[in-house]
Amino acid sequence: MSGDKLDGAKRLLGAELASEVVSGMVLGVGTGSTAARAIESIGRRIVDDGLSVKGVPTSQSAERLCRAVGIDIVSLDGVARLDLAFDGADEVDEDLRLIKGRGAAHSREKVVASAADRFVVLADYTKRTQKLGARMPVPVEIIPMAVGPVQRVIESLGARAEVRQGTGKDGPTVTDQSLWIIDAHFDVIADPERVNAVLLQTPGVLDHGLFLNLATEVWFGEADGTITRVARRDD
Ligand code: A5P
Repeated sequence: MSGDKLDGAKRLLGAELASEVVSGMVLGVGTGSTAARAIESIGRRIVDDGLSVKGVPTSQSAERLCRAVGIDIVSLDGVARLDLAFDGADEVDEDLRLIKGRGAAHSREKVVASAADRFVVLADYTKRTQKLGARMPVPVEIIPMAVGPVQRVIESLGARAEVRQGTGKDGPTVTDQSLWIIDAHFDVIADPERVNAVLLQTPGVLDHGLFLNLATEVWFGEADGTITRVARRDD
């Protein structure tokens, strides 16, 4: 029953996002189950309303969904800014800071979100958190030969470092960039800015799943079937 409620929240978020899309927009297209509901809803508007949009996908999986529903694929080579990027999240704190990357797509997701004038995060009611890191690990995408040194840096930050294992195969998860993921398990992240800075300075790290100043809006899909929109305060 609660699965139905969760799925309902994701569908409602997807439909609401699609209702704000207009023809001619270039979209950043997120990855994961909630972003997929938005892609499906945009697809329905392509059929029903003759909507015509382009999109930069954040993963191979998002690209396949875009092609299936009729969103034209473009790359960031030919597009300076995106009108609107949308994506899901694994955790969202009160300052609209995020953990992303359960689907191992966070490095591309960050590139796409950074190129957008408006980055809307679609988060069901289970994603709110007081402190980042309480439930979800921070994924760190690395080149495989750097696994030892990067694990030691993560441990020096107070986290447990675990190489993410693939499903349906033996061995590590391999990302769309053919790299690996180390999941950094914190109790809570006391200083996200420091974790961000240390990880980005570590050789062998492509990027990590902390999104600190990127979300311009978070839309929470509530358990009661409503949506709460929260916009970033620029102070
Ligand atoms: C993909 O790597 C992730 O960043 C997803 O956007 C995130 O895990 C949210 O996924 P769900 O919408 O499936 O919860």
